[in-house]
Amino acid sequence: MSIDAIKTVAVLGAGTMGNGIAHVFARAGYDVILRDVEQRYLDRAMDTIGKNLEREVKKGKLAESEKPGVLARFKPVTNMAAIAAADFVVEAVPEKLEIKRAVLGEADKLLRAEVVIASNTSSISMTTLAALTSRPDRFIGMHFMNPVPVMVLVEVIRALQTSDAAFTLTMELAKKLGKTPVAVNDAPGFVSNRVLMPLINEAAYCVMEGVATPEAVDAVMKLGMNHPMGPLELADFIGLDVCVDILDVLHEGLGDPKYRACPLLKKYVAAGWLGRKSARGFYGYPPSA
Ligand SMILES: NC(=O)c1ccc[n+]([C@@H]2O[C@H](COP(=O)([O-])OP(=O)(O)OC[C@H]3O[C@@H](n4cnc5c(N)ncnc54)[C@H](O)[C@@H]3O)[C@@H](O)[C@H]2O)c1
Repeated sequence: MSIDAIKTVAVLGAGTMGNGIAHVFARAGYDVILRDVEQRYLDRAMDTIGKNLEREVKKGKLAESEKPGVLARFKPVTNMAAIAAADFVVEAVPEKLEIKRAVLGEADKLLRAEVVIASNTSSISMTTLAALTSRPDRFIGMHFMNPVPVMVLVEVIRALQTSDAAFTLTMELAKKLGKTPVAVNDAPGFVSNRVLMPLINEAAYCVMEGVATPEAVDAVMKLGMNHPMGPLELADFIGLDVCVDILDVLHEGLGDPKYRACPLLKKYVAAGWLGRKSARGFYGYPPSA
């Protein structure tokens, strides 16, 4: 399929990532079929998208007069059959292999043969996911970063089976969204989490061993290394449970003890201190933060 033949994109899952991915496609002029399992999740996503578009209007990035046109490009659906009209698909359902297996299997049966399916998984093997479909050569990773409308990177991950045509198409499509795609091959954690998670883990060890407070660790990395956020502030933003899950994937997939999740991270998760979303992690947050 040529890039110009892509007019309609389906986004599977309207959660944190799905609503952001749908947002950037609609902003780039694509019709977007946004699919979730219940209407209330779609309503929540459309509410978030409306607020994020409004923020772009206030910042002067989008003309007020263009907003209704962008919103009119969305077709929120609970009925999976509606995705059959899509020319490209991005999957952003929860990070559980069984959920992805069910959703990808269903989508694979509904979509035209030439349609490429991209997954936004942060840690599951693209090669494994590709093999769950009847189109492994037209399967690829499109790893968007949170918050999607703001972050420029899309890590484009080639499964072992991905064809050159599907890879080139996905790289071009990411550019059409105004993003910068970076190509990597399939391996546990890809590049983003393989490099980021050991940094976060080491920062947690520094706190656990009493080397420094969370504030001091983050200050060193912000002021000394020019990181916009400290690693522990970022860990709280990502979710400490998500960090432990990804470290487990790295540990198991690469077999090197250097990826072992820091016991302090695991202890915080056991206590329900998951970061911003639970109002407590390495830092405390007001309930609405
Ligand atoms: N949150 C992040 O920072 C982040 C960053 C990069 C990648 N990811 C990846 O993106 C994916 C989605 O993560 P998220 O944080 O948006 O999760 P989320 O839980 O916020 O959203 C997932 C959505 O999928 C919906 N869903 C469940 N089953 C479905 C189905 N059968 N069909 C359609 N929708 C279904 C859920 O109702 C929910 O609304 C995961 O693979 C995750 O690893 C997340």
